[in-house]
Order: sequence, then structure tokens, then C-alpha cells
Amino acid sequence: MKRFVLAAVAAIVMSTAAYADSVKVGVVGPFSGPFALQGKNFKAGIDAYMAINGNKVGDNTVEVIYRDLPAADPAQSKALAQELVVKEKVQYLAGFYFTPDAMAVTPILKQANTPLVIMNAATSAIVTKSPLVVRASFTTWQTSTPIAKVAHDAGVSKVISVVSDYGPGVDAENAFKAAFEKEGGQVVEAIRMPLSTNDFSPIMQRIKDSGAQGVFAFLPSGPTTLGFVKAYNENGLKAAGIKFFAPGDLTQESDLPALGDAALGIQTTFHYAVSHDSPENKAFVEAAAKAIGNKAELSFPAVGAYDGMHVIYKMIEATGGKQDAAKAVEAVKGLTWVSPRGPVSIDPESRHITQNIYLREVTKADDGTYYNKEVQTFEKQGDPGLAAAK
Ligand code: PHB
Repeated sequence: MKRFVLAAVAAIVMSTAAYADSVKVGVVGPFSGPFALQGKNFKAGIDAYMAINGNKVGDNTVEVIYRDLPAADPAQSKALAQELVVKEKVQYLAGFYFTPDAMAVTPILKQANTPLVIMNAATSAIVTKSPLVVRASFTTWQTSTPIAKVAHDAGVSKVISVVSDYGPGVDAENAFKAAFEKEGGQVVEAIRMPLSTNDFSPIMQRIKDSGAQGVFAFLPSGPTTLGFVKAYNENGLKAAGIKFFAPGDLTQESDLPALGDAALGIQTTFHYAVSHDSPENKAFVEAAAKAIGNKAELSFPAVGAYDGMHVIYKMIEATGGKQDAAKAVEAVKGLTWVSPRGPVSIDPESRHITQNIYLREVTKADDGTYYNKEVQTFEKQGDPGLAAAK
């Protein structure tokens, strides 16, 4: 009898431990292939958050499970998310670098009882696809609106727009056009390139032929952006005085060593610069640089992942580690904190992050390294894209 009781108690203790102990977070991102550095930044941001805050929320141990999605592939994204939910029993889905991959997962959230915390994908409409989506990154509407004022203030009145032809590119084009026309400027031509474009010379010729004084550009950060900025320089546009305006995806810090002097002086608007001067960012950069192994590889997906983990930790706290997606999302509506990027909050209505957008200029430091230097702050920016979609 005594042995039976002991065995029963042991069984209960073990099952409670298994239940209370582990909350799994499934993270999908590009961990191999041409965009692997962006995925590496997701992991660095998550590792930094867990190094600073520990891996426990109350009695629950947080466990992160990674799945590799090298390129935008909605069908594979959905399959990976389903596998994470059904087989791995994750309570949270997170990550998602490319918009189509995030979009593909929104239909399964309700049935899976799983929130989706977006660490990058930046098309405004994603948060409208399910009430269980919370975004900790940015939108291209948010980052491309302020640069229009910068272009106008630089005395430019005619701009040609060049974007990747998918969600965040189309949003960026619309955002820039709306804001630039409001300033009295004109978008003389709008080019949408296939996402797979990697020879930019013909585009550079069209920019030259357009007679525009400046180019507005958006492409997803990675080999794409590096190639585009290089082509702008190598095809003589910079030398011809055609000014360059873009959100900060185009000058991510990890691209700057390869761009060298070609990028000097380029102005972009964005939610995060690795150089941001604050105690929170100092602690973040130290931990994230240690996680990634080379500070020069740090870029914005790391901060999206870091803040995404903050949102998830608050969700786990609010639900006591139990799976309740609606309660988890409810708990972070209106959440306010100081991120490494600056003060932020989750808008209770849209579930998208409100944040400062900074004008930055690519600058050479005394030690010869390049960085985005913050020169102006546009405070507390919500997402103009959601308003425009209404
Ligand atoms: C996106 O697909 O939403 C995306 C990817 C990379 C970026 C920005 C947006 O730099």
C-alpha cells in the first residue's frame, strides 16, 4: 500500500512538473540560405532576452523550438506552424521574417489556441487577419512615412519609387506616395520589382531616365538590399546627384561593412539603430553581440525578437503558463515598456507596436566602422497603414 501511494504521488509530481514546467514557443525564421543572417538575428535577440531575464516565468520554464524557413514560402510556413502546434505542442508561435509566411499562419491560430507574436513581418494588414496576432516589429507604412518629409525638406520635389512587389513593398510605395504628395511632392514613376530580382542595373537605368531628383526604395533586408545599394552607387546614380530615400531596411548595420564608403551619408528612417544611445540598448547590444558572436552582424530583427520575447513572457505571466490564447493577447493590449529601441507600447486596438521612428545617417566612426547615426526623432508613431486600409 505504502509503495503504491509513493508511486502515485511520484506520478502526480512528475505530471504536474511536466505540465507546469514547460511552456514551448515555436519560432519560424530563415536560419539557412541567403537570409540566414536575419534568422541568426532572431535567435540572438531571443538568446539576449533569456540571458538577461532568465528562462523562467513564475514556475514555468520557457523552451524555444526553432524551425527553418529559408525563403518566403507560405505553404511550408503553414506546415511548419501546424507541426509545431500539433506535434511539439507549442503554446506560442513567433518569428516570421517574411509577410507571406506570417499571413499563411493566421487562419490556424484560433483552432490551435495559439497567439502569433510577429518579430519582423511588416505588412500592415497582418494584424487584421486574426485577433490573436500581436506585432513587436514595425510596418513599412510606419517606417516609410517620415522619410517623405525628409525628402521634401531636402528640396526634392520629384521622386521615383522602386519597391519589391509584395505586401511590405506595396505598403511602402503607398506610404511614401501619400506622405510625399501631402508635402507637395510628386512620385513620377512607381516600379514594382519581383521579389527574386537580383540584377538591378536595368532598374538603375530607368531611375536615371525618369528625370527624378531622388529615388525612394524598399526591399526586404538581406542580399537584396546590399545588391540594390551597391547598384545605386556602381551605376553612377549617387555621382549623378540622384538622392536616395528609404526606410532603414536598406542600410541595416550588417550590410554596412560590405557597402563601405558607398553608403556614407544615406539617410533612412527606421525604428531601431544598433547605435541607439540608452542604457537599455547598451545592455541589449552587449547580450545580443555575445549571442551572435560578432557585433558587426547585429541588425534590427534581433530587437524585434527581443521585444517579441518580452511580449510572450508577459503573456505567460498572465496565463500562469496555461494555454489560453485569448487571455494571453488581452493581457498585452496597452502593454508599455522601454525597449532597446526606445519607449514602446502595444496599441490595444490594432495589437501593433507604437514606437519612435528615427532619422539616421550612415556615418563613419573614428575607428573606421560604419553606423546609422540617429539625427532626428519622430515620436510615438502608430501605424498609418491601418488607418489607410479602413
Ligand atoms: C516582410 O516580408 O514583411 C519584410 C521582410 C524584410 C524586411 C521588411 C519586411 O526588411
